[in-house]
Amino acid sequence: MPLMYSQRLRNGSPLLLGAIAAVLLANTAQAQSSSEASASSSVGSGIQTSVFGHLPDGRQVDVYQLTNANGIELRVTNYGGIILSLKTPDMDGKFDDIALGFDSLEAYLSDEYRQANPYFGAIIGRYGNRIAGGQFSLDGETYSLATNDGSNHLHGGDQGFDKVLWQAEPFESDAGNGLVLRYTSEDGEEGYPGKLESEVTYTLTDNDELMVDYRAVTDKATPINLTQHSYFNLKGEGSDTILDHQLMLNAPEFTPVNDTLIPTGEIRSVEGTPFDFTQATPIGERIEQENEQLAFGGGYDHNFVLARDNAASDELVLAAKVWEPQSGRLVEITTTEPAIQFYSGNFLNGDLTGKQGQAYGHRSGFALETQHYPDSPNQEAFPSTILEPGETYRSRTVYRFSAQQDLGS
Ligand code: GLA
Repeated sequence: MPLMYSQRLRNGSPLLLGAIAAVLLANTAQAQSSSEASASSSVGSGIQTSVFGHLPDGRQVDVYQLTNANGIELRVTNYGGIILSLKTPDMDGKFDDIALGFDSLEAYLSDEYRQANPYFGAIIGRYGNRIAGGQFSLDGETYSLATNDGSNHLHGGDQGFDKVLWQAEPFESDAGNGLVLRYTSEDGEEGYPGKLESEVTYTLTDNDELMVDYRAVTDKATPINLTQHSYFNLKGEGSDTILDHQLMLNAPEFTPVNDTLIPTGEIRSVEGTPFDFTQATPIGERIEQENEQLAFGGGYDHNFVLARDNAASDELVLAAKVWEPQSGRLVEITTTEPAIQFYSGNFLNGDLTGKQGQAYGHRSGFALETQHYPDSPNQEAFPSTILEPGETYRSRTVYRFSAQQDLGS
């Protein structure tokens, strides 16, 4: 199926053009021979493929290691499209793994993990975040979804896109080394209408960016809100809390929630509240303040509305910057999405043990999930998340990794 990126050329930066080339090349490669690519153990110097393990039904799961020219290394598996690790340099050039996760497939499949359900590093779909009561109406029909978060539906349901096996296609291109992941979600899967063909492309560029491109088509109208659920600790995963990380969100407003974390419908200014991250502020500075919204989330677990001004819907806009003083590591996130969920790792409680044998304690990682607003299928005033047949869903988020002595302006 051809990718219709031509509509994006209007705002085509060299980076964007490079990415387009990468995606097109990947598709050409796939058209030539998909079996060939999956049979080989390596497609060149920057990508290595190996077996990660097997699912209970016997299907093989792989791991892809992408490395860029500066030594940044990203490991991804086609189970859930999970980012397993990401090694980036600190101010002194020392590499650490900054992504929370595990070394083995078994760890992701374990009952313990599935009960805790932190969605470490995974692709989230069909719908990132919550749908109230697990119900929505569309074109006169009411649909019922799994209520896997109290009375609400969360992150696509019992067997969301984070728990399915994606078809993977590694590629190398001028834009960087990458991996295209494809998954077809059948009509009725997890209660959603329509057969949804989805594609997520990870590209690791030599400009130290991780570019994530999402694309999907459907044969019936369906809600869709894909995102990436990586948790980072910029000191290195397995370190203590992220409370000293400084966060800047390009978000003058957020959507307050009720006590089950469903938006009330209000779009509230952050001014004068602990939700004002328009200037970089340590995550922990106000997290314990007495505040109804912080109490509902057990900390930050909220949808922030980005200042997109008049940017076109396909234009990348700055969403967030996070800087960690000790290592100097900085991550800058730009996106085509209208919002971002900032989750301060409030549900982590030390029960899960990470790659270094360290327990992942309370707030030892943060997630910044670019998205449309939670519960949009039930909230008419929110930007629509309905994908119609004949339309193509497209979304892009870019994470840029660097290290510097101070955050600057
Ligand atoms: C999202 C949700 C949180 C939580 C995490 C994973 O950020 O908003 O409430 O579910 O995912 O634990």
